[in-house]
Amino acid sequence: MYKIQNLNPISPLGLDRLPKDLYEVSSTCDAPDAYLVRSFVMHDMEIPASVKAVARAGAGTNNVPVAALAKRGIVVFNTPGANANAVKELVLAGMLIGARNIGQGAAFAAALEGTDDEINAAVEKGKKKFVGFELPGRTLGVIGLGAIGGGVANSAVALGMKVIGFDPAITINHAWNLSSSVERVTDVDEIFKRADVVTVHVPLLDATKGMINAERLAMMKPHATILNFARGGIVDEKAMVDALSAGTIGAYVCDFPSNALKGNPKVTALPHLGASTNEAEDNCAVMAAQELRDYLENGNITNSVNFPEAQLHAKEDGESRLCIASDNAPDTVAKLTGAISAAGLAVSHMVHKSRGDLDYTLIDVPGAVPATVAEALGALPGVRSVRVIA
Ligand SMILES: NC(=O)c1ccc[n+]([C@@H]2O[C@H](COP(=O)([O-])OP(=O)(O)OC[C@H]3O[C@@H](n4cnc5c(N)ncnc54)[C@H](O)[C@@H]3O)[C@@H](O)[C@H]2O)c1
Repeated sequence: MYKIQNLNPISPLGLDRLPKDLYEVSSTCDAPDAYLVRSFVMHDMEIPASVKAVARAGAGTNNVPVAALAKRGIVVFNTPGANANAVKELVLAGMLIGARNIGQGAAFAAALEGTDDEINAAVEKGKKKFVGFELPGRTLGVIGLGAIGGGVANSAVALGMKVIGFDPAITINHAWNLSSSVERVTDVDEIFKRADVVTVHVPLLDATKGMINAERLAMMKPHATILNFARGGIVDEKAMVDALSAGTIGAYVCDFPSNALKGNPKVTALPHLGASTNEAEDNCAVMAAQELRDYLENGNITNSVNFPEAQLHAKEDGESRLCIASDNAPDTVAKLTGAISAAGLAVSHMVHKSRGDLDYTLIDVPGAVPATVAEALGALPGVRSVRVIA
């Protein structure tokens, strides 16, 4: 039996992926094999030697001591893309909020007073201020064509929009999933010059911090809308507020309220609702449980933030699999296979991957691995963790 400790409540759909005859899941546990976590901050907790993996049901891993766990040979997983549809749908709503002045219109309607006749009269008189634009034929610029940006781009194509996209590091998988109608641009400034609506879907990094700045806002059309459902820091808020009051752009719709944006009639700020759907929580939990299961039962690694991807087909009957994390070194394979052959064991299959300062090696050997061999491997210089799957 594998023991899993959940540090937060985890969607039952995810827990269902861990069969009860193999997994004991509990919120209290002495020596867990792995943790399932959402937002619980793990930085100050003592993590026992029994732990082999941490799976975070969500994308960010700020609450997990990722580097310290890598040093101990403990894998940390996350669930990229599991909430992408939830964010995509809110971005589409944001695009319509901007195009039809829905935030301002709803605020105007909510403030109306008087009899119904007086309200009706005020509605008919006041609605002219909120005339918007329709989406077909308009140009959407998407910065970052990953799980969320790619989905937004494809949906916008289906809505009849012309879509231009910028992502110099798009993955092959995301490129395969992108509609061929999306036009690729190689200069991000072209997005700001040509688009009626710009939406940003990049991580917040030094390179993306403040990438929507005064200079780029000045390139835009006066009615243009900026959508930011990525991270607040990607937009220079002072430049945004100045551009909105100068009429350089039309509207800013985001998921990140702040004092600078508060009360601005051209801003609609939502309370970080992007991933807030029950479906997104379920998807994250299912993906986290599957990743954990494949690692614990097969040693395979998918979507880790501190280990390389590594997959080896299911081990054959009668074989044992060694899962070894070690310092990245030129002699890792020689060292490990040398110790295995010195113990009289053969190697039937092997996968060896590196990421940063870490090596991860899966080695199948016929028969059982004596505890003394596992211990000898664990004692080799640079070896961080050794696990035997019998
Ligand atoms: N509002 C929310 O609740 C919410 C929820 C989930 C994610 N997010 C944010 O959305 C972001 C995107 O999420 P995702 O799942 O699509 O991530 P992803 O990793 O699938 O895609 C990010 C894409 O951005 C691209 N990119 C990186 N730097 C770039 C740059 N300078 N210019 C252009 N492209 C660049 C990458 O190549 C990648 O294709 C996340 O980093 C996160 O900050 C917000």
